[in-house]
Amino acid sequence: MNAIAPNVLAPNPLAPNHIINARLRGRSGLFSLHWNDGVIRAIAPQDGPIAVTAQHTDGLDAEGKLVIPPLVEPHIHLDATLTAGEPNWNLSGTLFEGIERWAERKARVTRDDTKSRAHRTIRMLAANGIQHVRTHVDVTEPGLGTLQAMLEVRDEARELVDLQIVAFPQEGIESFANGRALMREAVEMGADVVGGIPHFENTRDQGVSSLHFLMELAERHDRLVDVHCDETDDPHSRFLEVLAELTRVKDMGARVTASHTTAMGSYDNAYCFKLFRLLKQAGLSFVSCPTESIHLQGRFDSYPKRRGLTRVPELDRAGLNVCFAQDSIVDPWYPLGNGNILRILDAGLHICHMLGHEDLQRALDFVTDHGARAMALGEGYGIEVGRPANLVLLSAASDYELLRTQGHALASIRHGRLIMRRSLSEVSWAETSTQPSQACS
Ligand code: FE2
Repeated sequence: MNAIAPNVLAPNPLAPNHIINARLRGRSGLFSLHWNDGVIRAIAPQDGPIAVTAQHTDGLDAEGKLVIPPLVEPHIHLDATLTAGEPNWNLSGTLFEGIERWAERKARVTRDDTKSRAHRTIRMLAANGIQHVRTHVDVTEPGLGTLQAMLEVRDEARELVDLQIVAFPQEGIESFANGRALMREAVEMGADVVGGIPHFENTRDQGVSSLHFLMELAERHDRLVDVHCDETDDPHSRFLEVLAELTRVKDMGARVTASHTTAMGSYDNAYCFKLFRLLKQAGLSFVSCPTESIHLQGRFDSYPKRRGLTRVPELDRAGLNVCFAQDSIVDPWYPLGNGNILRILDAGLHICHMLGHEDLQRALDFVTDHGARAMALGEGYGIEVGRPANLVLLSAASDYELLRTQGHALASIRHGRLIMRRSLSEVSWAETSTQPSQACS
């Protein structure tokens, strides 16, 4: 084969060393990207489209479509995925029944079960162009067998993803027996990130003290922080202000993430006005899981029903870092999901009233750069010379077109190696009086 057929084709398709005719976000024109030894060596602007010739047989032809750094999944629970309905379904659809159903399934969890489901889910994520994943792992379990299993998965899955593991106290730190000791042990075993769930602790005082404890634990062991914070419609759930103040005082903004913060969707504007001043001083990141939150929240409302999301556009407009995530795939909290974070982006932009022209032009920020910043990936992420050759080819030439066409990741390159290719189905037409070219795709 002497030419690059659509997207990718080379004598050794697993080891391409360049892409031609790539469109890059935020830059005009077409580019050729070259790499070797897993590192980007050159990003060259093209005068125009390059015709494929024999000299390109070790490359990919992007055909004018977007090439981006990998998609990012900054919040998922890989230890719980693919368990919905085992043994019982969450009939009320509430977060709290999800925790009850998970407690039943947890009794049947084994090391092999956890690892098998996590690996299957990681493959689903990688099939959709994701290469960076932060997973929360339940550490309210004597012996911490699930955490040990996930630490093994972190190593075994390196060919597909970089995995950050959060020590997540699903049933509390202060209100769960030996909660503090389990968190300390999880960090010593190798968890990358310290988690928390202050709104689930039995009392407000316990919630506050859990935040002091986990921030000090992270500081002492030089870990990142990602707290399930105020994941409720209760407007009186105000642990975010405590987390933000601790973050400000410790100057840890680049290392702290507040996940969910759905109560912010129920705070009144006067309180939010004051809160945002603190959030900007703290500089922490935010993760919103729009499909999961609109499913779980608002369950105690009649009508009008709240959407149950944090204030995504307002956080973004305030200059704070906010990104989207999946949270669950087929587990007691959310029965759907397929690993495609572009589906979450689509839903999130709808739910958050973010289909304005300017938001559509930069929509991918919320599942790429912003997620990478929340995960503190630093110079390990991005299309720049000297950075890892981790690249994803998309099926459209712009953020807007990708969303409009519900596009996909077509190819994923990791450390210079092609790890995933996707073929899209084509529409065939019968003879009609209207020519296909006149129809809108
Ligand atoms: Fe979560």
